[in-house]
This record gives sequence, C-alpha cells and structure tokens, in this order.
Amino acid sequence: AYSRQKRPTFLCTFDFFQLKVIAIDEQLTVIYEDNVHFDKDLPEFGYVFELCSLITITLDSMKSSGFNFSHVRAFSGAGQQHGSVYWKEGASQILKNLSPDLPLHQLLKACFSVSDSPVWMDSSTTTQCLSLEKAVGGAQHLANITGSRACERFTGNQIAKIYSQNPEFYMQTERISVVSSFAASLFLSAYAPIDYCDGSGMNLLQIRDKIWSTACLNACAPGLEEKLGPVVPSSSVLGSVSPYYIQRYGFSPDCKVVAFTGDNPASLAGMKLEEGDIAISLGTSDTLFLWIKEPVPALEGHIFCNPVDSRAYMALLCFKNGSLIRERIRDDCASGSWDEFSKALKCTVVGNNGNLGFYFDVIEITPEAVGIHRFNSDNNKVVVTYLTHCMPRTRILATGGASYNKEILQVLSDVFSAPVYTIDTANSACLGCAYRAIHGLVAETSVSLGDVVKLAPEPRLVVTPTAGADQVSSFGISSFSISFHFIFCMF
Ligand SMILES: *[C@@H]1O[C@H](CO)[C@@H](O)[C@H](O)[C@H]1NC(C)=O
Ligand SMILES: *[C@@H]1O[C@H](CO)[C@@H](O)[C@H](O)[C@H]1NC(C)=O
Ligand SMILES: *[C@@H]1O[C@H](CO)[C@@H](O)[C@H](O)[C@H]1NC(C)=O
Repeated sequence: AYSRQKRPTFLCTFDFFQLKVIAIDEQLTVIYEDNVHFDKDLPEFGYVFELCSLITITLDSMKSSGFNFSHVRAFSGAGQQHGSVYWKEGASQILKNLSPDLPLHQLLKACFSVSDSPVWMDSSTTTQCLSLEKAVGGAQHLANITGSRACERFTGNQIAKIYSQNPEFYMQTERISVVSSFAASLFLSAYAPIDYCDGSGMNLLQIRDKIWSTACLNACAPGLEEKLGPVVPSSSVLGSVSPYYIQRYGFSPDCKVVAFTGDNPASLAGMKLEEGDIAISLGTSDTLFLWIKEPVPALEGHIFCNPVDSRAYMALLCFKNGSLIRERIRDDCASGSWDEFSKALKCTVVGNNGNLGFYFDVIEITPEAVGIHRFNSDNNKVVVTYLTHCMPRTRILATGGASYNKEILQVLSDVFSAPVYTIDTANSACLGCAYRAIHGLVAETSVSLGDVVKLAPEPRLVVTPTAGADQVSSFGISSFSISFHFIFCMF
C-alpha cells in the first residue's frame, strides 16, 4: 500500500547523547540525514531534557533546510536500552496541551519526578538484582521467564532501587517509560506503550507470553504494572503524530508513529538480519546479536523478543569494553599503531598455536570476569560453553569502528568458520527505524520486514575463513564468549 502513495518519505529519530535522524524515500534512498550532539549546558534533568532539546533542534533545522514534513507517512525511533524516565503526576495533562510556539524542553519542565534518570551504564543495583532472583526462585528461573538473569542495568532493578531509596519520588510517578517509549510519547503527546523487544530488557516481561510478570513486578516495586502501562508488538502503529508537530512543523495529521524500540534491536532491523545471521558490532562496547526462533535463556547473554517479528526472538551478548581493550592491546603490543596491529595479526598462524588470552581490564558483563587470563596449548581449562545450539549456517554481519580492520574481521571469520560481511552504514540503528516505520504501515497484513526492504543495499563480503581454520583445535570450542574475546589475543 505504501508504494502507491506519491513521494512518501519516512523519517526516523534515534538515540540520545546525540540524536541522529534519517529520512528515506519509497526507493529506500536516504534523502535527509543529520546528527546533532548533546549540549553539555542543559540543566538538571540530564538526558530527559537533552533529548527533548535535541528533538526540537533537529526538527527546527530540518524545517529551515526546507524539509517538507507533510510528505512523511510514518516514522519510528530507537533509544538506548534499559534507561528509564519517570513522569510525575499530572504530566500527561501537560503533554496533551503543548503550545507549538515553545520548544519541548521548556514545555515539559514540570513533568518528571526523578531528576537523575538512570541510563544503561548504571551498575549500582546489585542488591536489587539479588533480591529479584531470590523472589522468583533463582537466576535461571528469572532467565527462563524474562530472557535474562538479573542485570544491574535492566530497568526493573533500576526502578526497584529508586523505589527503595526515594519512595516518595516513586509514589509521585504516574508513568515510567523506557528511553524509546519516552521519545515516542513526545511525538504522540501521550504515553506510548513499551514495545515487546525493549520490554525484554527490563527483567520484568515474560518473553514467551509477552505480558508483565506479576512475580517480577511485585519483587521490584508496588503498583508497578499501572505505572508501566501496556506492552505492544514492536511493529505496532501507536497512533498519529500530535497537533504540536502538525502545527509547528507541518506534519500531516495522517502521519503514523510506529512503536519505538531499543538501539540494538533497531540495528537488527537496519542490517536486515535474517535467521542464521550473526551481527557483530565492534564499537566502544561490542555487541553480538542473532535472530533465533526458540528462546533458551542461559545465565549469560540475553534473549529479547524479536523487534521485527513477534513470533521470533533475538539473542544478544554485550561486552562493555570492546574498543577500549583492543586499543590498549594495540598500544601495549603494537606501538599504538593499527597498521602494526594488523601486521601482527597477519603473521600469526590461525589459532595462534593454541595460545589464547582473555582480557578484562574491568569487570565485564559477559562473562562476569576480570583480569587477564591466558592459556597455552596444553591447558584445556576453558569457560563453559553456551548458545552453541544457535551456531547456524552462518553469515556474520560486522559493523562499528573496528569493522574497518580487515585483519580483525579475518579472525572473526576463522573463529566462526563463516564469511564476514560489512554494511555500508554507520547508522544501522537509525536506518532500521526508518525500515521499521515503513514496515509498521503494513505489518498487520503479515508482510515481513524483509519484503518491504528488498531494495535496500545488500551487505558486502569482506573475508572468508582461512582454509583449514575449522580444523584448528581451539576453535572447536565455539562458545560465543570465547570466540569473541579471541579477537583480542591473537598475538
Ligand atoms: C509541501 O508539500 C505539499 C504537498 O506536496 C505542498 O502543498 C506544500 O506547499 C509543501 N510545503 C512546503 C513548505 O514546501
Ligand atoms: C528453565 O527452562 C529449561 C527448559 O527451557 C528447563 O529445563 C529448566 O528446568 C528451567 N529452569 C528453571 C530453574 O526454571
Ligand atoms: C569500561 O566500560 C565502562 C562502561 O562503558 C567505562 O565506564 C569504563 O571506563 C571502561 N573501562 C575501561 C578500562 O576501558
């Protein structure tokens, strides 16, 4: 249906700390792209106000550059996962009546009950994590229900901490959003539901039934279900853009807002990930994700509801110190030069004669380990394997800064015995939201995302496995965790 429209454009917004925006046309060609960075001067309410302000700056500048918002048929967005925003009693009334003459951050000043909204880096909730696991019968049981054992950064534990430290702030809160649903709420001028996928990053959602888990909610804070509101499929149309945007920017009243989701899930859409693919993002933090059919949650890693197909799932591993450790090794062993680093990798035999090393300068997320652990070829001591059942006929899609380094990609290819592709976009999450926006318009007719984005560029093959790499003994282990950290230590 969307292709019958004249000149439709699709717009998406993304992220905080910086806000990226992309608009694509019917041929999926990017017709507008912008990137606005965080303004350090913004006041007390941290990223909540930053985001409001960034949205205003971005849309104002699109308008002054002549972007015609009346052509936008739908848009969606993504935000960092796990972070939460606390709307104060009465905020929904304020949201409903936004005056188009003023910027969002001025209009919403009185809307928040917690000034320091937690973000994903927060890891101060160990006490709450332990008590949540205990309340539901243990870590594995919690993982079976919600897709993950209790994690410090997950929203439920963050909420539990706010409740225990500032019960009065919690009580004054009428609605809790995650970052993505917060941003969607701004565009609807009404509270947006949380999508299944981002909801799975909270330790609160039953990922199979896609309903809040009463046991988990009760373990975190009283009256939580009401404050969280409903959850919806990630491709749902939430409603039309609110009058504020119609009047201030000239959006069409028919422009649809498709559920916002998390940044990694949005990347899955942007990379057009298919069953059997593994996506690896080599950035400040490294993430690995894949499309799976049947969730088998383990104590390490996470299973989320799939952001583009409500019947499927998405597995995710996150290593918070990816690039930082690669850079340290480069500095220590390769005189700070990526060229030297690549040379060292090139002249090392596949498997490094069985010498392995794992480098965790600070305590990691996956596995929860710290220190430098090296093993020689005689030492068979290895960490538990998991997720091995997911090792598919595989294609690896690499993104992120380090994906420009062909030698690192070669190691990945050898470790997984799979070809490695890259995708020519630094903005896979942003683009993913634009694709999701188009998909949202037709999702109810059970058209798949893959069908609507057929025209999008295909990934580019960069390296294939070195002959015989799969015969190298230490690769047989194939735990993602082991394989993944292997890339730090080939020399
Ligand atoms: C935007 O497009 C509409 C319909 O094509 C047109 O009527 C309108 O004048 C355009 N607005 C601007 C500001 O160019
Ligand atoms: C978790 O689920 C698996 C099967 O999916 C089951 O074998 C196991 O007993 C469950 N563990 C707990 C603690 O609920
Ligand atoms: C590891 O990552 C955390 C979270 O991003 C960051 O605060 C910390 O500085 C990093 N540590 C090192 C040694 O790079």
